[in-house]
Amino acid sequence: MKKTVLVWASQTGNTADAAGLIADEIGRDDIDMFDVANLTITRLLDYDMLVIGTPTWGLGELPDVWLNAFPVLDELDLTGKRAAFFGLGDQLVYGEWYLDAMGILHDRFVARGVSVVGHWPNDSYELSASKALREGAFVGLALDADNQHHLTKDRIRKWVCSIRPFLD
Ligand SMILES: Cc1cc2nc3c(=O)[nH]c(=O)nc-3n(C[C@H](O)[C@H](O)[C@H](O)COP(=O)(O)O)c2cc1C
Repeated sequence: MKKTVLVWASQTGNTADAAGLIADEIGRDDIDMFDVANLTITRLLDYDMLVIGTPTWGLGELPDVWLNAFPVLDELDLTGKRAAFFGLGDQLVYGEWYLDAMGILHDRFVARGVSVVGHWPNDSYELSASKALREGAFVGLALDADNQHHLTKDRIRKWVCSIRPFLD
């Protein structure tokens, strides 16, 4: 098992709930879990595999707790590590900015040297634009607790299955 950490931000609990389901699916004994607000960011260096989650707030913005992490994150060399991303957003009300924060976070981590796994198909979503879309796929798991809550568990199960080879 690769040394794996799951790190998320959450303002109203949806991303925290998704993090819990992802942890259950991976196996809680096999990972460490942190709300990014409680993580010393340099501890990311201790892990091989980073599972990173964020909601999008404002109009396509990251939560402050992620922004606060950037000064330290931007100094880290994460070369050789893998990262998988998951994002929460509302594709109907915020369809011009759906999951933008996941795309922004992805770019920030890629700039530190991670290689990304766990891309996710963009069919079965309605949106007009997203910074989390690259070449027709999301950079990570796309969740929508506001409009597609009933799909969350199944999406998580399939996504964890797709990243499983990088966890073992
Ligand atoms: C004021 C407000 C702004 C939001 N802005 C966006 C947005 O720009 N893009 C998006 O995809 N979702 C947006 N959302 C939806 C949230 O990301 C969504 O409800 C998410 O599940 C919240 O996650 P959390 O409970 O972990 O904070 C917004 C929601 C609110 C209430």
